[in-house]
Amino acid sequence: MPVDLKNPLSWKNATGDADTMLQNLQANILKGHVRDHLGILLLQFDKGPEDPTEARTFLTRLAPLMKSAKTHLQEVKDHKQNGSNGASDTDTSPYVGVGLTKDGYLRLGLSEQAIDEAFEDEAFKRGMKGAHLKDPPTTQWEDAYQKEIHAIVLVGGADPGSVDAKLQEIEGLRTSSISVIGRETGLGLRDAAGRGIEHFGYVDGRSQPLFLKEDLEEEESQKGGTSIWDPKQPLERVLVEDRLAPNKVTDFGSYFVLRKLEQNVRAFRQAEDDLANALNLKDGDRERAGAMLVGRFKDGTPLTLEPAPGAHVPVTNNFTYADDAGADKCPFQAHIRKTNPRGSGDFESDSDESTHLMARRGQTYGERSDGDLPESGVGLLFMAFNSSLLDQFEFTQKNWVNFADFPAHGSEPRPGLDQVIGQGDRPPATWPQVWGEEEGKEVPAVAQAVTMKGGEYFFMPSLPFLRSL
Ligand code: HEM
Repeated sequence: MPVDLKNPLSWKNATGDADTMLQNLQANILKGHVRDHLGILLLQFDKGPEDPTEARTFLTRLAPLMKSAKTHLQEVKDHKQNGSNGASDTDTSPYVGVGLTKDGYLRLGLSEQAIDEAFEDEAFKRGMKGAHLKDPPTTQWEDAYQKEIHAIVLVGGADPGSVDAKLQEIEGLRTSSISVIGRETGLGLRDAAGRGIEHFGYVDGRSQPLFLKEDLEEEESQKGGTSIWDPKQPLERVLVEDRLAPNKVTDFGSYFVLRKLEQNVRAFRQAEDDLANALNLKDGDRERAGAMLVGRFKDGTPLTLEPAPGAHVPVTNNFTYADDAGADKCPFQAHIRKTNPRGSGDFESDSDESTHLMARRGQTYGERSDGDLPESGVGLLFMAFNSSLLDQFEFTQKNWVNFADFPAHGSEPRPGLDQVIGQGDRPPATWPQVWGEEEGKEVPAVAQAVTMKGGEYFFMPSLPFLRSL
């Protein structure tokens, strides 16, 4: 039976083509892989398309180092059963992921026509340099991202030793015509309760589309339920047929976006303070200023549900903005309301907003000492898997994040840009001075504290494709 792409999958009960698909799929796509330590290599294949042998050989040699989605899921299950410190989704072996750009496929000797037929996603084919996302000009991107990137290799794991060892093993497979033009090092940050946070100090990675029935069951029974907000998404929201692979029925891949987003922590802290002052927020209520920028308090408590942090353990994701239609609790311009309006967007053409959600797999980068408020050198390596970069990542950044009228078209004053990642002119925004009270106060827009330093689009092919080269 062909893989049912219209529904989530139970991996434990998968048989036939669905089981083969899991054995042929890269890890980290259907379920995030632990990547507290993360190494990224950006590669160029120096030889032209007429001489693709070295690039092809390199990729076939990499394939045996990569675990499949099935192996990853099995490892997580075994690890949980062994009850190592009650660790949740920790894995035992590092993850190796590989993606190729359109230029990378050309260097493997594939023709423009073959690539055009194999990939439908126009964003993938034109690359991030040609995107209209109000990014800084490419001349201001970091050097590696200004170049033509052909491939990306990700190595993620729980401890730095095994990640470094794997990176070295991979470097050892390179021949002289495979150049490393850029490297990134991801380093997970955790709060006192052990939860993953980003550099502004907020719990991150909580809300995700879920593609596995087992993850949905866990969300239902242990993580706050799915009765109000259902994170269920069909496989087709993240998987696409790998048309260049040997078997189109069982070989799938996913489009991958990488964006290096530098965070000016001092500027963001200042923005939180300025907003609290402008709204005359006092004492404990001052924390609400930052929560209004993000949409959750630092500990993850959704602002639309509570006026103060600390209400939910584990942090719930079971909410919408149905009881907050006027944005009197959580402003429209808060990061999580802009990037997932949860049914409260008002564009008729957009019948199902959840189709634009993507599987976020980002990791923080840069080191800092306690109490430091770095202005540069730290940030987020934003990463996400998509079945359409055009409809998911780019749609979100362009039509929601950067678009001042979303999600309340025609309202005066306009909602404004996403206060965390919005790019472009920021009009003044209106904020509820008292949580839950209609009266709002207009305040000049907070300054942008996130700067895009470069990025690219890739396709993460199936394992049989890599082996077949
Ligand atoms: C430095 C940049 C960024 C920071 C600091 C940041 C921070 C956060 C935080 C703290 C959350 C709340 C935790 C959660 O619900 O998972 C979140 C959620 C989210 N972010 Fe970001 N983010 C950044 C970049 C991006 C980008 C580039 C996108 C996509 C264009 C994005 C899309 C989302 C989405 C879709 C959610 C989940 C919203 C929901 O379902 O409620 N983020 N982010």
